[in-house]
Amino acid sequence: MSRPVVAYIHLANLRHNYRLLNRLAAGAQVMSVIKADAYGHGLRLVAPALQKEGCHSFAVTNAEEGAVLRGIIGRGSAITLLSGIFDQEGAALCCLQHLTPALTEHGQVKLLHEAGFHGQAWIKVDTGMNRLGTQDVPGLYDACKTAGIGIAGLMSHLACADEPEHALNAVQVERFERIAASLPADTPKSLLNSAGLISIGRRTTYDVVRPGIALYGAEPVASMPIGLKPVMSFCGSVIQLRDIPAGESVSYGASFITSKPVRIATISTGYADGLPRLLSNQGLTACVGTSGTAILPIVGRVCMDYCLLDASGCDIETGMQVEFWGEHVSAAKVAEQVGSIAYELFTGISSRVPRQAIE
Ligand SMILES: Cc1ncc(COP(=O)(O)O)c(C=O)c1O
Repeated sequence: MSRPVVAYIHLANLRHNYRLLNRLAAGAQVMSVIKADAYGHGLRLVAPALQKEGCHSFAVTNAEEGAVLRGIIGRGSAITLLSGIFDQEGAALCCLQHLTPALTEHGQVKLLHEAGFHGQAWIKVDTGMNRLGTQDVPGLYDACKTAGIGIAGLMSHLACADEPEHALNAVQVERFERIAASLPADTPKSLLNSAGLISIGRRTTYDVVRPGIALYGAEPVASMPIGLKPVMSFCGSVIQLRDIPAGESVSYGASFITSKPVRIATISTGYADGLPRLLSNQGLTACVGTSGTAILPIVGRVCMDYCLLDASGCDIETGMQVEFWGEHVSAAKVAEQVGSIAYELFTGISSRVPRQAIE
């Protein structure tokens, strides 16, 4: 009998989000970013659902993720490696699995050439994020051509697209266009992630857009919600209910002391599942009972395998499910409480939590 902790993956909401983003892309190709096990949602659930919806371009982090994805989706679709390759093994996988690395270094071209790679590669240029990207686009372009590597296109990544008014957005667009102008006019271009697509889209959708977080239903630009629906519901279950008198402490460190008699619900979910420990004494959990949805506070410290709720006055029973984030409490709101972002919550769900598809 498995522990009652589960991440439900609502595929209808994923399809809704993809369609919404496809409309915003206004004719540009949507490269669905499904790295890190589809942002923790489960590659094996997400990739085929997107493929059925008409998506034929995907992005993951590295060659190992690319090889796993190729095994799931078969030949026909492009798989871009946003972090490129790091070694000979990565180059060999690009050949074997028909992967499309994003290149930032001449050393990567050499590795691909030595591996006999004659597929396509993106040139990834830094336009102001100062994280990863070449500063020598013409040099890398020529090196690819000489090595017999096709050019998939020129890509760059925005640093502040979730802040529509940020001055760096316009700077990056201007630099990107200037660099693109130095390449043949028919070179495909890609700049926008989810937030960029929403906040600065239209003129800059170019040929390919690369949404990630929006696919999973977290609004990338808080001030500009577009009607995305949450794909993940992260749930645990009530495994014990106990009445505790006033003046007792709850969980490790006795950080919560009952000021009155309370009903404590012990939930089957802890930080080893991906429930942030920073939610200790401040998290909220949705419990759907027969008389409606109650929002219950997490009391005491979140433990490795458990957390505790104050369920006083609630029609809760052993075996009932509670939701930490999803339909009733947004991941963005939970993330804000712990000084993080929805990306980190999603990718923090551990491998011991089953991902269960809901059609
Ligand atoms: C190069 C690149 N493109 C696109 C994305 C997708 O970004 P988002 O999830 O914010 O849409 C990422 C994510 O980190 C990225 O690194």
